[in-house]
Amino acid sequence: MCKTIPIACDHAGFELKEFIKQHLTERGFEIKDMGTYSAESVDYPDMIHPLAKAIDNGEFAFGIIMCGTANGVSMVANKYQRVRCALCWNEDIAKLAKQHNNANIIALPARFVSPQEALKIFDAYYNAEFEGGRHQRRIEKIPVK
Ligand code: RB5
Repeated sequence: MCKTIPIACDHAGFELKEFIKQHLTERGFEIKDMGTYSAESVDYPDMIHPLAKAIDNGEFAFGIIMCGTANGVSMVANKYQRVRCALCWNEDIAKLAKQHNNANIIALPARFVSPQEALKIFDAYYNAEFEGGRHQRRIEKIPVK
């Protein structure tokens, strides 16, 4: 599995994506930018399906997506059976998204978190560990049979 982090957004998330991409790249992360590439209005499913598909098929361990509220992008990502996308609007939610849900995509609401908050949210998720145990049993029950 590739260690690169894929990142995707719509126009509402474009500035935040650029900010996160720059900061994570400076910190040594490999980023795969899956669009959008400007602030021109687009439809978020067009960028999120390819990223979610790549997580679903095991190409990447986890990804970051964003739109204005993070609702639309989460809805798209969570259509995929092996995707567990968590809408993360603060550090505690992000930490628990890893500890309890082993989220493999975090969705950031670009119109409701500052760029600095978004980085802290990423760090909280990234530095947390999945706790397994009863949480493993629960996440195994998420996919539609
Ligand atoms: C775009 O205006 C906005 O609707 C979109 O970014 C997102 O919030 C949708 O869920």
